[in-house]
Amino acid sequence: MPFVDWIKNTVFITFEGPDGSGKTTQIALLVDYLRQQGHELYQTREPGGTPIGNQIRQVLHDLKNEGMHPHTEILLYAASRAQLVAQELKPRLAAGAVVICDRYADSTLAYQGYGHGLDLDTLRTILNFATEGLQPDLTVYLDISPEDGLKRRQQAAQHGAEWNRMDAQSLAFHRRVRVGYLALIAENPARWVTFEAAGDPDAIHAQIRAVVIDRLHS
Ligand code: TYD
Repeated sequence: MPFVDWIKNTVFITFEGPDGSGKTTQIALLVDYLRQQGHELYQTREPGGTPIGNQIRQVLHDLKNEGMHPHTEILLYAASRAQLVAQELKPRLAAGAVVICDRYADSTLAYQGYGHGLDLDTLRTILNFATEGLQPDLTVYLDISPEDGLKRRQQAAQHGAEWNRMDAQSLAFHRRVRVGYLALIAENPARWVTFEAAGDPDAIHAQIRAVVIDRLHS
């Protein structure tokens, strides 16, 4: 493959959205499609994605840890992310893979920044340290109202899906998270593409696919 095409195909894509926005389904559909197209692909998620990150994820999600201070929470998310960036994301991108990550630094700004009201400039300093400045090329945002999102999570939990410490935050918290996402998108619209999460999953997938293909070949 010519060098120029190799560079074009190296893309870091993140998925963001409130809880219950259907990211997992959409990521699976996109990953299947891109693999069928022959793209070398690395799929991961946050918090987690490495053995160390997965241990941190357990601490973050454990309902027993309801007393966790917001500062502890941000540092744990940042710790998991630092490990993922150094161990996986940077090497995979350097090797020419398309990287797809379920949540990334924007989740910290939306949940810990807007949700918990932590100072955004301080968070950005911590995030920059943790990620060594690695930013997504494209962020897919799946939008859903906090009420509908939580309803979806509750229904999924009744069928065995995880109901974690972040799901259990108040509705007011989840409302602030969504407001935060909308503010982050307004700050940097060129990086984000927004889709209504309430629609038919196959139709949403077709739209996401079109945007991603366009980005991979532009
Ligand atoms: P997860 O089960 O992965 O949920 P989802 O499928 O919605 O991504 O749980 C991740 C939870 O952690 C989710 O509620 C968002 C939250 N979170 C933060 O609060 N800050 C962060 O930096 C990240 C990455 C996630």
